[in-house]
Amino acid sequence: MFEELSLHVLDIAMNSLAAGATRVEVAVIENVRHDWLIIRVRDNGRGMDEQTLQQVLARNFSTKAIRKKSIGLGLALLRQTSEMCGGTFHLRSQRDRGTSVTASMRLSHVDRPPLGDLEATILALCTAGPEVDVRLVYRSDGQTFHFSSQESYCQERDSHEPRRTQETQGKGSATSRPA
Ligand SMILES: Nc1ncnc2c1ncn2[C@@H]1O[C@H](COP(=O)(O)OP(=O)(O)OP(=O)(O)O)[C@@H](O)[C@H]1O
Ligand SMILES: [Mg+2]
Repeated sequence: MFEELSLHVLDIAMNSLAAGATRVEVAVIENVRHDWLIIRVRDNGRGMDEQTLQQVLARNFSTKAIRKKSIGLGLALLRQTSEMCGGTFHLRSQRDRGTSVTASMRLSHVDRPPLGDLEATILALCTAGPEVDVRLVYRSDGQTFHFSSQESYCQERDSHEPRRTQETQGKGSATSRPA
């Protein structure tokens, strides 16, 4: 298990880059009232066929060529963390369509790792995939922050966002909504 959730996010999103994604969407949603933390990483990469998906779900399977044994840790570690912290883990994938990984956990669970440096994780992803549209949605009790490494996404989103109340410098934007 990683010491910080942002390192899990980095690990899972690196899978997306390895799968040739041109868009990777990271969502981190905290809800104090309902005591949930949800992490979702979605991509439009090459996805997995049904057989690979079943192998990955059944055991720590990897297709990495450098592995001596076909054992992967990234998904298994996040699954372990979420289940240990009273949450669930979902992996969905379709060949040539993309992959979605969703992990939930109890925000107040004693074993829940801190979120850590999410900003550094996003920056690392942008550096690793400069052509890739790396997106972040961070929501914490009514406050939502959006970021996209490709400006067009925020412009497109903002034009449909009449309730935007605050905008950061650069390409990210923050939105307030009632809890
Ligand atoms: N986003 C994704 N798109 C397509 N295939 C994926 C994706 N994420 C995981 N996979 C497949 O699932 C396997 C297991 O992923 P996992 O992150 O657990 O291990 P790994 O990436 O192979 O190795 P490690 O993360 O330990 O360096 C990968 O080898 C790959 O075949
Ligand atoms: Mg991995």
